[in-house]
Amino acid sequence: MLIRHRRSWEIPERDATPEHLFLNRRSLVAGGAALGAGALAGGPARAFSLFGGGDAAPAAPEAPDPSASLYPAKRNPAYTISGPVTPEVDNTTYNNFYEYGTSKNVSAAAQMLRVRPWTVKFTGLVEKPQEVGIDDLLKAMTLEERLYRHRCVEAWAMQVPWTGFPVKKLVDFAKPLGSAKYIVLKTFKDPKMAPGQRSFILQWPYVEGLTMAEATNDLAFMVTGAYGKPLPKVMGAPLRLAVPWKYGFKSVKSIVEVSFTDKQPDTTWAALAPDEYGFWANVNPAVPHPRWSQATEEVLGTGSRRPTVIYNGYGDEVASLYSGMSKDRLFM
Ligand code: MTE
Repeated sequence: MLIRHRRSWEIPERDATPEHLFLNRRSLVAGGAALGAGALAGGPARAFSLFGGGDAAPAAPEAPDPSASLYPAKRNPAYTISGPVTPEVDNTTYNNFYEYGTSKNVSAAAQMLRVRPWTVKFTGLVEKPQEVGIDDLLKAMTLEERLYRHRCVEAWAMQVPWTGFPVKKLVDFAKPLGSAKYIVLKTFKDPKMAPGQRSFILQWPYVEGLTMAEATNDLAFMVTGAYGKPLPKVMGAPLRLAVPWKYGFKSVKSIVEVSFTDKQPDTTWAALAPDEYGFWANVNPAVPHPRWSQATEEVLGTGSRRPTVIYNGYGDEVASLYSGMSKDRLFM
């Protein structure tokens, strides 16, 4: 018999936010943007002059996305959320994508991102290095939709219908050697296409990493779409990571290189501000960021906060990955 345990973050139906409150989110987001921008590691104010608030870039006409016919993909019912999905308009107007500015309002600037042609390189400890076009990679995978919680270290949260495939499948495709201990995922580096990279806001390209055990956990997801369509540029098209038990900065966007190594990689935020951001970055309400509490989170679109849950509610799936590691800084 299948017994469904209520997960630690699931709230009773009566407590779910009424639909109409979501419609108020735009004003909430507008108010929150000034506060949120630069909060992450105190992003430098000079970036604002570069982007004029993030909406300055011209959008040139582009061919339709060749992967459009793959969407919507079948939803995998094993991955669901309690409460409504965050409206798409909110998810595409409140983002962190420092390649396009430190404002939350970078959707227009991110239209400079060119997502075709797009290749992904597989390097490092692999049987054979290879480079593959994104559409060939998509053909090799079966896409599915999953509803995930998404929690930024800045204490805001969303509920997102991602489309993609398990990171485990990407690992199988890459054929790493047995000596590989970490997967490293890198964003593109092209300051012409990403004006933020002309300034040292972060060390470019943006790099993130996971242990092989984390990467091959069922929850770790390579994202190619959202809301039943190819991924919007501002959300990290055409390929990004989603590791919902970790703070959002681990979920690197617009990936062009996947490599494998036997040493823990230097990751972007951990390298920039090691006292504030670490390699593990697992969500935990009891471990505050040095500059703010993580006890609660603002659910964007609802006008309300809810208690943060350890591992963002995915403890049953991932806590065992960290057994015997209590001395490590697992939660920052
Ligand atoms: N990836 C790249 N390349 N550049 C970034 O600035 N920001 C990170 C992460 N991935 C970021 C990135 C942070 S801090 C968060 S919270 C999430 O992307 C935000 O994803 P979203 O904009 O889709 O909500």
